[in-house]
Amino acid sequence: MNCCVAGLQWGDEGKGKVVDILAEKSDLVVRFNGGANAGHTILIGDQRFALHLMPSGAVRTGCQCVIANGVVVDPAVLIEEIGGLKDRNISIDGRLFISENAHVVLDYHKLEDRLREEALGKNKIGTTARGIGPCYCDKVGRSYAVRMADLRNPEALKEKLRKIVSYKNKLFSALYNADPLRTEEVYEKCLSYRQALEPFIANTTQLLFEAIQSGKNILFEGAQGALLDLDHGTFPYVTSSNASALGLGPGSGVPACHVHSFIGVVKAYMTRVGSGPFPAEQDNEIGQRIREKGHEYGTTTGRPRRCGWFDAVAVAYTVRLGGITEVAMMHLDTLAGLDEVNICRAYRIRGREVNFFPGNQDDLASAECIYETLPGWHEDLSKIQRPEDLPANVIRYIQTAESLIGAPITMIGVGPKRSQVIYRKPV
Ligand code: GDP
Ligand code: IMO
Ligand code: MG
Repeated sequence: MNCCVAGLQWGDEGKGKVVDILAEKSDLVVRFNGGANAGHTILIGDQRFALHLMPSGAVRTGCQCVIANGVVVDPAVLIEEIGGLKDRNISIDGRLFISENAHVVLDYHKLEDRLREEALGKNKIGTTARGIGPCYCDKVGRSYAVRMADLRNPEALKEKLRKIVSYKNKLFSALYNADPLRTEEVYEKCLSYRQALEPFIANTTQLLFEAIQSGKNILFEGAQGALLDLDHGTFPYVTSSNASALGLGPGSGVPACHVHSFIGVVKAYMTRVGSGPFPAEQDNEIGQRIREKGHEYGTTTGRPRRCGWFDAVAVAYTVRLGGITEVAMMHLDTLAGLDEVNICRAYRIRGREVNFFPGNQDDLASAECIYETLPGWHEDLSKIQRPEDLPANVIRYIQTAESLIGAPITMIGVGPKRSQVIYRKPV
């Protein structure tokens, strides 16, 4: 049984927690998109893990971890993450596989990310500054790209870096008046990356074919969320990969027909970090309250997340986009304490009621939400284990959301811990 977990909003839905739960019954956990812009949190007892590049299955020592070809790998972050896990007695030796075709994020990508954002001023995307966009640009441009396989061949890599650094220096100097980079410095770092990561570089496409053939359970872990998808999200305020479940095929080499269930993760409200349209945003006391109660500060950058009501128009769209078969709704506990709660059921765009997510970004920017208002709940949900023990107003909220998004909500999050999930059907 193969399964994919993907975010249905603008990221940070709680994918790390859901993957960690499902990883118990998985043989392999596979990251297929994004890079160290991701921050996936797992809470086991009092231990908190925030993973950026390692698949969230890493904390389960029986799981093999695959960083597939679609990921852009920042070796410095990955090496630190491996070390951090080792410090907590979690060894990944022999169970981490990094695709030889995955592209490498180097310092000049991070520099370019920062310089480009600074130059954009108020039009900036609000990236995580992890070099993601520049690295994917090099991948698409081909001639100046470095892949994990290149780390294996230092002599050829040195030549390649000479060409790349010379090109980048001309570019950065002309566009941003930046100081020149030194090839030797970039190269020396690559040698240290090689030393630490070479044992893990593998043909992950073949590895996954074989895993499928032998009937292993594979769990695919999406990063970011469908509204940040490069092709289908709120462009240009998106990330540079296919961050919906659609990215699974190109990002791993496994066609979607091998995947039996697609679990979409949402929060019971919306959040967004960085710029871009957000029709249901509550830039007011409600948003502030959600942010503080839900600890809505970025796992990767620490930035405060923008908060708003659950947008069922947007999520109905991403459910369809990802072929989502079931939904895990997190943070129901965070909404407790409000007399009334709202769900956006339609938009008003240029005076007309619209119940689908607009493709036109100007329409989205001008969309006003039409809300379904429901009674809130004041009970503490954090210790509830069975669906029948949920307060009636919570059930009503879930059922309303379910009917608007067109997919069953099968898992309910009532706290950050592994154990704080209520199952409405067996996993
Ligand atoms: P991811 O990027 O999708 O893995 O999500 P993040 O880890 O960036 O952000 C989700 C945050 O919500 C983390 O701090 C989680 O520990 C926390 N979390 C997950 N599920 C729940 C839940 O049901 N209730 C509460 N209160 N916190 C949750
Ligand atoms: P996880 O996997 C939330 C956002 C950034 C910015 C935009 C582009 O933890 O859900 P980038 O650095 O990718 O070029 O930034 O995408 N973003 C995320 N927001 N969660 C994430 O990952 C994100 N990864 C990128 O804030 O708006
Ligand atoms: Mg996150």
